Amino acid sequence: MSRVDIIGIAYLFASLTFIVGLRLLSSPVTARQGNRVAAVGMAVAIIATLFQPGMSNYVLIGIAVVIGAAIGTGSARGVKMTAMPQMVAIFNGMGGGAAALVAALEFIHQTNGGSIEAPRAATIALGAAIGAVSFAGSVIAFAKLQELMRGSMFVRQAKYLNGLLVLVIVALGIALVVSSSQWILLVLLIVALLLGLALVVPIGGADMPVVISLMNSLTGIAVALAGFVQNNELLIVSGALVGASGTLLTQLMAKAMNRPLSNVLFGGMGAAPSAAGLELPAGATVREISVDDAAVLMSYSQRVVIVPGYGLAVAQAQHQVRELSDILGERGVQVKYAIHPVAGRMPGHMNVLLAEADVPYSQVQEMDAINGEFPSTDVVLVVGANDITNPGARDDPGSAIYGMPILNVDYAQHVIVLKRSMRPGFAGIDNVLYYNSKTAMLFGDAKESLQKLVAASKAVSMPGSARKEPEAVKA
Ligand code: TAP
Repeated sequence: MSRVDIIGIAYLFASLTFIVGLRLLSSPVTARQGNRVAAVGMAVAIIATLFQPGMSNYVLIGIAVVIGAAIGTGSARGVKMTAMPQMVAIFNGMGGGAAALVAALEFIHQTNGGSIEAPRAATIALGAAIGAVSFAGSVIAFAKLQELMRGSMFVRQAKYLNGLLVLVIVALGIALVVSSSQWILLVLLIVALLLGLALVVPIGGADMPVVISLMNSLTGIAVALAGFVQNNELLIVSGALVGASGTLLTQLMAKAMNRPLSNVLFGGMGAAPSAAGLELPAGATVREISVDDAAVLMSYSQRVVIVPGYGLAVAQAQHQVRELSDILGERGVQVKYAIHPVAGRMPGHMNVLLAEADVPYSQVQEMDAINGEFPSTDVVLVVGANDITNPGARDDPGSAIYGMPILNVDYAQHVIVLKRSMRPGFAGIDNVLYYNSKTAMLFGDAKESLQKLVAASKAVSMPGSARKEPEAVKA
């Protein structure tokens, strides 16, 4: 068996580990294992590549690997859970930039002293352009999430500028194929970087998870194209996996928000609050509940469902919510957590927070699984969630989020909402749930409210099995 055959087998093994790793990543229970499996595959792939015929510059490669590994390990160990989206963004940007550089260097290599055949030049042009767009877009996404840059701007004009830049890139790509000019490649890379900036600068920070997922799929495509240019099967397979999973994730997020991708890229959601979708019953009032009454109501319930949202992440109240559910559990209350696919601001945001607080996976239910259980639920405790519980999305065709699937919390017997004020959530619209006669508000920071609820629940006396009803919530 030749060296090339052994490298081929190592690449095949690595490709399989990436597929198995992705599969394992699809559940919180097996996600860590999936990460390890894929990491082993990546190590095998890197080692195998070092033995490729024609490899040289081992010292430079060694230095780059050591620096990269140190930065990667340091930032992954130090990153806060809330800063995870920006870390994904910047790492993804590095992948896109690397793919663009590989394509560009291959072009320089092959055109030194001659021309390059048209299909190869076209593949290089496409890979370089897509990689550069992903690099620039991801860097801007990082800057926005890190709050180094703020807000959304030029929303209306952006699509025309983007369209123009795409046309220029296509024209430059054709010129590159015809001329094999290195200068044209340089201009193409610069215009593609500009397109990445122009695409992401106008988008509001809260839409960034969708944008990062889109950039992720672009990086995958650029890597796969780099694989074609280099005749490297592993790059083609891993690029295709990243491209496909990024595209699926982007679609799933857009679907879960019931927003076409074009609306994320060119729409104004996540910006200023508006009154759109505000269809409140006449004379609608909001009722408040005291901490003690809320504690009694939950302690004497049979089934409580906790709905975490973005506010839980802001307040970092995952440990307190776990403490409360443990106390209720000890009192014989069945507690479950209901997870909406776009709760929070990144895919799996709530799962990550709950896992951090060691909430048992068996208590965590996805939207489709738990929605049928709300009518038989005594109390729903909404912790810093808003849009994902808004019945307007289900019932009001005039609502800005009409059609977005929601958690049907208003079907439960009682709803207690923990939030600081009547301010809207991400979509900038009021929530009819708060004016429902079943709903009572407990205003305050989620962490503080949960701490008080924990203390009050501990103090609730449980005389035998007799059920003491709490005082009615006050208007
Ligand atoms: P939101 O609708 O954004 O509502 C969060 C609520 O939390 C706010 O109403 C806010 O009210 C409250 N809050 C904030 N800080 C708090 C604190 N310290 N203590 C207590 N409450 C606090 O969140 P959601 O219900 O999770 O829905 C997610 C939204 O984000 C959806 O519209 C979704 O489409 C969008 N989105 C999601 C993603 C992903 S992938 N998850 C990506 C992009 C956009 P107060 O200010 O009154 O406290």
